[in-house]
Amino acid sequence: MGYDARFRVWRGDIDGGGLEDFTVLVNEGEVVLDIIHRLQATQAPDLAVRWNCKAGKCGSCSAEVNGRPRLLCMTRMSTFTADEVITVTPMRTFPIIKDLVTDVSFNYEKAREIPSFTPPAGLEPGAYRMKQVDVERSQEFRKCIECFLCQNTCHVVRDHEDNKQAFAGPRYLMRVAELEMHPLDTADRREMAQEEAGLSYCNITKCCTEVCPEHIKITDNALIPLKERVVDRKYDPIVWLGNKLFRR
Ligand code: FES
Repeated sequence: MGYDARFRVWRGDIDGGGLEDFTVLVNEGEVVLDIIHRLQATQAPDLAVRWNCKAGKCGSCSAEVNGRPRLLCMTRMSTFTADEVITVTPMRTFPIIKDLVTDVSFNYEKAREIPSFTPPAGLEPGAYRMKQVDVERSQEFRKCIECFLCQNTCHVVRDHEDNKQAFAGPRYLMRVAELEMHPLDTADRREMAQEEAGLSYCNITKCCTEVCPEHIKITDNALIPLKERVVDRKYDPIVWLGNKLFRR
């Protein structure tokens, strides 16, 4: 059974904008992205929104619904009451391009700064051998769809533009952790994690974990273990000596 919902959608660009009110039809089983598409089709043909898969897998449709970072295609209308005003705004941490579309290039810049996977010299493709237990440790992190909701919600950069230089954000610290845990990787990124990627800015409030649509335990399984590895390297005299002698 359909009903008319009240939507407030942010419209504007880098020079400014504001919330616009709409009344729009909602059908049973729809998600917020369906409603945004109906707005485009019926009332606001120039409304900008980024999306691709409509299945929670491409990570394109990230925005904020009633102030909470969400994927628009995975936010069911049935989670709201029919008389609720639903406010849709762009991700706050990144510069606006237009309406609900933000410029997320900050994330790609941070990705480029991480030293890539470094297998042992001379190891041929196909000769890789890993224990299942080692594979499982970082496999969870490979579920990341790069929606950047964790980057958007992280308080280190959400309200502190000046921290962006010194902080890679949870998605990329998780990438560092993934490489550090890889049994065949020979690079040591612990100093880089601390000094260049700003690991110490993270005070494990778990806001990134809370918004992850893939339910990756970013804080518990990536950031805290990475912090432990960094501390081991820095303060444990035996590990420190071992690092000096054997590198890892
Ligand atoms: Fe692909 Fe929403 S459109 S995750």
